[in-house]
Amino acid sequence: MTGLIQPHGGRLVNRIADSKSRDDLERKAEELKKIELNEREISDLELIAVGAFSPLEGFMCKNDYHSTMDTMTLSNGLPWTIPVTLSVTEKEAVELEEGRDVCLVDGEGRTLAILHLEEIYNHDKEKEAIEVYGTTDLNHPGVKKVFEMGDKLLGGKITLINRPEHGEFKRYRLDPAETRALFKEKGWRRVVGFQTRNPIHRAHEYIQKCALETVDGLMIHPIVGETKGDDIPASVRMRCYEVLIERYYPADRVVLVVLPAAMRYAGPKEAIFHALIRKNYGCTHFIVGRDHAGVGNYYGSFDAHYIFDEFDPQAIGITPLFFDYTFYCRMCGGMASYKTCPHESSEHISLSGTKVREMLRSGKRPPVEFTRPEIADILIEAMRGEATS
Ligand code: ADX
Repeated sequence: MTGLIQPHGGRLVNRIADSKSRDDLERKAEELKKIELNEREISDLELIAVGAFSPLEGFMCKNDYHSTMDTMTLSNGLPWTIPVTLSVTEKEAVELEEGRDVCLVDGEGRTLAILHLEEIYNHDKEKEAIEVYGTTDLNHPGVKKVFEMGDKLLGGKITLINRPEHGEFKRYRLDPAETRALFKEKGWRRVVGFQTRNPIHRAHEYIQKCALETVDGLMIHPIVGETKGDDIPASVRMRCYEVLIERYYPADRVVLVVLPAAMRYAGPKEAIFHALIRKNYGCTHFIVGRDHAGVGNYYGSFDAHYIFDEFDPQAIGITPLFFDYTFYCRMCGGMASYKTCPHESSEHISLSGTKVREMLRSGKRPPVEFTRPEIADILIEAMRGEATS
């Protein structure tokens, strides 16, 4: 392999208006019919524009929407598992016309982009729930979102005029072109990406470091877009990542970059999606552990591993690194997994998320074998703040 890994589909998409045409487009957008985007749609818009969702150049049209669900590919045959859609109500749809541009705005009415509207089509919510999430249960946060969306979908390429406003994490916001340049500058040929929506506990740290043993660099790439209400807020997680990296990681081998994407909680389907996104950011490898992007008991612990077998590895391009359930084992005297540890479960220190939250809420640090004390303290502090706010 020479140079960096190819983006998905071979070309890094850039749908950001260039500086010459930007002002004209903004003026033109003022005259257009306006559609207000929700938080997820705004993050999808930005990710399309910067190429994180390459080869998508816009919100999906009907053929891509259905082939994603029917065959886990785009209509051009490339692997793709999660619909990237823009919805409106029937009432809004009536006022739009295929072939006419639409102005996409944020909650404050600020112009973000132009949608070159190609198609208005039906949102098949039932099918999406079953094919993408494996359930129509409204207790599933991803399914709930699908059913809350509008009944019509708008497909078409976009041109981004203004980036969404982000007050937070500015120095960690790198686009795929920038992470690619960074990896090149660092001379990293093999880079492993790590997806997370949680603080980094010892299990996360262990699998990251195991992976790093075999590659040149690690990109910790937490999701900072919309997550469900009981997930730890991104601002708290970021403090945890910073402290952990500073104290326990080799500075010249790790980068922290935020991914402004929304979590879908689609388990295996989202694992493929997460891997393809990291390929676009220039990663050659991607960590998939236990219950990746899962929620509740909707998916088997390793469904997110098995789904990779349904694809041609060449078509996926990025190499998944699979990890079994990891924990600290008293007998081993270190971190291990069911794959590498021969001892009884009673020797393992593993706590449920609920138990950890309970401990932190009552001001107790979980065992150091589970969470580093510095991280526990940040989380305890944050939960105290929550309780008093
Ligand atoms: S996720 O929704 O982003 O997948 P989380 O932040 O908890 O949730 O996990 C990040 C990555 O670490 C995922 O690949 C997940 O499978 C993996 N992971 C988390 N905990 C463990 C564990 N105890 N053992 C093995 N893998 C784990």
